Amino acid sequence: KTYNIAAIPGDGIGTEVIAAGLEILEGLARRLGGFNFDVTHYPWDSEYYLKHGHYIPDGGLAEISKADAIFFGAVGSLKVADHISLWGLRLPICQGFDQYANVRPARVLPGVKSPLSNGQAIDWVIVRENSEGEYSGSGGRVHQGLPIEVATEVSTFTRVGVERIHRFAFELARSRPAKHLTLVTKSNAQRHGMVLWDEVFAEVARDYPDVRTNRELVDAVTTTMVLKPEKLDVIVATNLHADILSDLAAALSGSLGIAPTANLNPDRSFPSMFEPIHGSAFDITGKGIANPIATFWTAAMMLEHLGERKAGEHLMRAIEEVTASGLHTPDLGGTATTRQVTDAVLEVISR
Ligand code: NAI
Ligand code: MG
Repeated sequence: KTYNIAAIPGDGIGTEVIAAGLEILEGLARRLGGFNFDVTHYPWDSEYYLKHGHYIPDGGLAEISKADAIFFGAVGSLKVADHISLWGLRLPICQGFDQYANVRPARVLPGVKSPLSNGQAIDWVIVRENSEGEYSGSGGRVHQGLPIEVATEVSTFTRVGVERIHRFAFELARSRPAKHLTLVTKSNAQRHGMVLWDEVFAEVARDYPDVRTNRELVDAVTTTMVLKPEKLDVIVATNLHADILSDLAAALSGSLGIAPTANLNPDRSFPSMFEPIHGSAFDITGKGIANPIATFWTAAMMLEHLGERKAGEHLMRAIEEVTASGLHTPDLGGTATTRQVTDAVLEVISR
């Protein structure tokens, strides 16, 4: 079977880690057989934007909608304001393809040191609502530049949107050994949308009597993550809250350089998008030391989504063997390069 992959490396280290990730995917296909990849590269980075005035050209979304999956690096450049690049490339794909479930696993890989003394207890999946909420884009500015200027940033929550993310999170929680789901909101201070989240959660919970649940406010859950990581399993939260919590989760599990994510369209009417959670990392771009593990783990999630579960597991075992060996990039305290880590994973895969 041939899978059509739309590769969008984007900016900064995005190009370095996606190149490494594609080498790994090809290595797996060679070793395991039975499937391969037809990769199309889309050059929609910030240089392209500066030249053409847009990231995604006319018809671009329609074209990548035919892919089986999208493999995405990062977008963000010192030459373009971040809200322009994010809204120019990543959000149109997530929202246009209704990738409403953003799934972010976090655990401490073998050989990696967590800043927590009990970091081994981290085994979480954060489910981020990815289509609405704080990032729905509504709001505006009036009296721009004047002392009386007012800016609004409106969070929109729909019952349909809230219910489907809760169902997704319950299904995921049910599939895991601990079968536990934590609802994270701020429904004491935010009394409309967040209360809707609480109510719909309670309704959906009735369909999942086998899943244990609890509720935490977003500020409180940061302390649980740090002090009692074993209390958490699957976490469901809004677009903004889960965005923040997943960077914390990545840091607690060793580095932003290992954390993967999947932007899923669960009903498969459009392709899903797979990306490391980190950005373009200006400080290390071009040095050849970006940690490619986040992208490899992301590739494993993509394989599982494509139905190549065995290949995904094979890749995950190879990643863990390499992290356990102590071959680490500088973000994990080592001196290895992207090339060395990639070669080591390729070597394990091909055995
Ligand atoms: P960042 O994730 O790019 O970097 C934060 C820190 O983590 C830096 O010190 C960086 O060197 C380190 N880091 C990140 N990934 C790493 C890796 N694979 N290996 C080793 N170290 C790694 O976040 P920052 O600095 O806030 O943003 C830089 C740019 O990236 C901005 O333009 C931002 O908007 C964009 N960005 C894009 C994202 C996306 O496309 N999904 C996500 C986050 C940021
Ligand atoms: Mg983020």
